[in-house]
Amino acid sequence: MTVDDPIQTPVRVIAIDGPAGTGKSTVSARLAERVGAQMLDTGAMYRAATLAVLRAGVDPESPEAAEVVDRADIALRFADDGQHVYLDGQDVSGPIRTDEVTAAVSAVSAQPSVRAKLVALQQRHAEDAFLVAEGRDIGTVVFPTAQLKIFLTATPEARAQRRHAQNLAAGRPSDLAEVLESVNRRDHLDSTRAVSPLRAADDAILVDTSDLTLEQVLDRLTELVATTIGERHV
Ligand code: DC
Repeated sequence: MTVDDPIQTPVRVIAIDGPAGTGKSTVSARLAERVGAQMLDTGAMYRAATLAVLRAGVDPESPEAAEVVDRADIALRFADDGQHVYLDGQDVSGPIRTDEVTAAVSAVSAQPSVRAKLVALQQRHAEDAFLVAEGRDIGTVVFPTAQLKIFLTATPEARAQRRHAQNLAAGRPSDLAEVLESVNRRDHLDSTRAVSPLRAADDAILVDTSDLTLEQVLDRLTELVATTIGERHV
């Protein structure tokens, strides 16, 4: 068996990176289903770390925040309905989605020791599974040897419009201009931080989702899986 034999080489990871609002989570979940992989949502782990910091009443930018995360027990478990994230033994899959967590997560995830802890945890999940791993630094840092790396992009306007529509559909008050400002603010924080900034890996395939429907994006990715990893996985 040779290392680059597509039939014999065990397939491990499809990396999907990109900013918020590109449809990344939905696309990754649906792609994982299509190709029979487990989906690893790494953002949920940064959110759980942030929840620990907020619950401890500590400033997300302070060194104490890193200490709180260092002591926190963050774990992922996979059930029939997808990934669940646990903080100190408690299922926090719901509480990690609040606006309060969303507002503080960029600061917590910019802390180097937080990233070191969570990246190690993420890498452990690939030891015995075929993964669609979704995040910001999957192709660059977590799984640099992933068989397929996708970087989803979309204009800030398209991403804000999607988030705005999701808010309205969920009955949440929403102002498009404010949503656009928050999209731009998070992009800036995530792509300018010193450790593992959001950027496409050199060997990632860029897919702009601005003018594509979810089904069109999925078709494109399924095609890429077929050509790079093999038909047997689609
Ligand atoms: O994908 P999401 O919105 O749930 O991610 C929440 C935050 O976590 C996002 O603002 C950036 C951070 N994040 C990260 O720094 N690295 C990852 N691999 C995933 C998420």
